[in-house]
Amino acid sequence: MRRYMRVLVLCMVLAFFSALYVCSHLSSLGTFESVAVVGDLAFSRSASLQSDVGKIARQWPETRGPGDLQDYRHGAGDTGSSSAPPPPPQRGRGREEPMHLAVVACGDRQEETLTMLKSAMLLSARPASFHIFAEEQLHQGFRDQLDSWPSMYRSKFNYTIYPITFPGENQEEWKKLFKPCASQRLFLPILLKEVDSLIYVDTDILFLRPLEDVWALLSRFNSTQLAAMSPEHEEPRIAWYNRFARHPFYGTTGVNSGVMLMNLTRIRAAHFKNDMTSVGLRWGELLVPLYHKYKQNITWGDQDLINIVFHYNPENLYVFPCHWNFRPDHCIYGSNCDAAKQAGVFILHGNRGVFHDSRQPAFRAIYDAIKKFPFEQDLVSALLAPLEVELNRTTHTYCGQVHHLLTQNYGPTLIDIQRSRDQDR
Ligand SMILES: *[C@@H]1O[C@H](CO)[C@@H](O)[C@H](O)[C@H]1NC(C)=O
Ligand SMILES: *[C@@H]1O[C@H](CO)[C@@H](O)[C@H](O)[C@H]1NC(C)=O
Ligand SMILES: *[C@@H]1O[C@H](CO)[C@@H](O)[C@H](O)[C@H]1NC(C)=O
Ligand SMILES: *[C@@H]1O[C@H](CO)[C@@H](O)[C@H](O)[C@H]1NC(C)=O
Ligand SMILES: *[C@@H]1O[C@H](CO)[C@@H](O)[C@H](O)[C@H]1NC(C)=O
Repeated sequence: MRRYMRVLVLCMVLAFFSALYVCSHLSSLGTFESVAVVGDLAFSRSASLQSDVGKIARQWPETRGPGDLQDYRHGAGDTGSSSAPPPPPQRGRGREEPMHLAVVACGDRQEETLTMLKSAMLLSARPASFHIFAEEQLHQGFRDQLDSWPSMYRSKFNYTIYPITFPGENQEEWKKLFKPCASQRLFLPILLKEVDSLIYVDTDILFLRPLEDVWALLSRFNSTQLAAMSPEHEEPRIAWYNRFARHPFYGTTGVNSGVMLMNLTRIRAAHFKNDMTSVGLRWGELLVPLYHKYKQNITWGDQDLINIVFHYNPENLYVFPCHWNFRPDHCIYGSNCDAAKQAGVFILHGNRGVFHDSRQPAFRAIYDAIKKFPFEQDLVSALLAPLEVELNRTTHTYCGQVHHLLTQNYGPTLIDIQRSRDQDR
């Protein structure tokens, strides 16, 4: 009888530990189910959420961020902050740790997202790892397109496609509060547990500078910085936050979250000061109370929450100059981004849909040129030259009048990369 009891106890203990093991595994995997597909060039991993992704509303704001407000009417002066001269392009080769790039794509943003990824790979030599969060119905399209890229580009990156989701623990609460697509980026530190750092960009971004140069900004962080963004505006007289916001925001004009560098390791470890508790809160603990406190007062969703966080934690933010996140606001009423005037535009952000309509033809010209460029052709004769011709037709607009800022850095970068390719042949 005693032996029987012992065996029973042992069994229960074993069962308990195996249950614990299974649980810890499940939670470390989140609710992802990973499928690895090994191809000849590179592999792609597709994660599909077991819970009901189809139920998640397909919400993707047509317009994003205060920059989307249409009520600007003042002229702009030239009072933007100055910036240090840019580093020379670093185009190292070889098998280094990949650079991580994350994007969230919903609705009709697939083509735009692919054009953004294309713009990155046209210029970059270092291997990259893409983390694409997308609505389920877009997954196959992404895979088909990315896998069809010629090997000289396809061999430089791996990608993982994830469903739009919230992390395990507070799934239900978050689902009730946040628009899944728009707020997904807030959850990257919790979802991508194994990633140290990443570049997050909106889908309406084009890289005019190699990704490795963007990545290099991460190493400029001092010991307290854990994220980097650009100011929302250069010109307070036409900026949004300082005139209209009913919540705290970072600095004088707020920050724009369309291009955001994140050291996820640090974000996960940090305790953030806030106006709700006297002790600092972890990133994952902060979002819900912050949302509850400010939900009546926030206009631009997650970007407002980000601004509130860094208002209370300014020592955690690295602010990079406007040419790393150049938007129509920087030229629409006159050119006000000093960094771009000095060194040219490094990252173009076509917010308010300007890549797709006729309001800012200079922005659209760059988007169309990159989208149409046949991958394996010459970067100078098949991309830069037709682009210059097209940009010359946009001088009837304010942004078109300063179109040389768009190619000031991009032109020499393309010429340089094409030259080194020709030498390698
Ligand atoms: C992609 O993943 C494969 C398999 O893990 C690896 O061998 C390859 O180096 C990776 N490529 C890049 C560009 O990271
Ligand atoms: C991010 O921060 C961690 C902890 O400080 C550090 O070890 C790591 O090198 C940083 N990552 C990058 C890319 O700088
Ligand atoms: C929200 O805005 C109102 C009106 O400006 C203000 O009185 C209130 O303090 C704000 N709420 C918070 C939590 O800041
Ligand atoms: C890092 O830089 C930020 C912004 O300039 C600053 O507020 C913070 O005090 C710096 N941290 C350290 C440890 O110097
Ligand atoms: C653009 O226009 C300027 C001035 O009219 C002209 O000098 C230049 O050659 C044009 N460039 C292209 C690429 O058409």
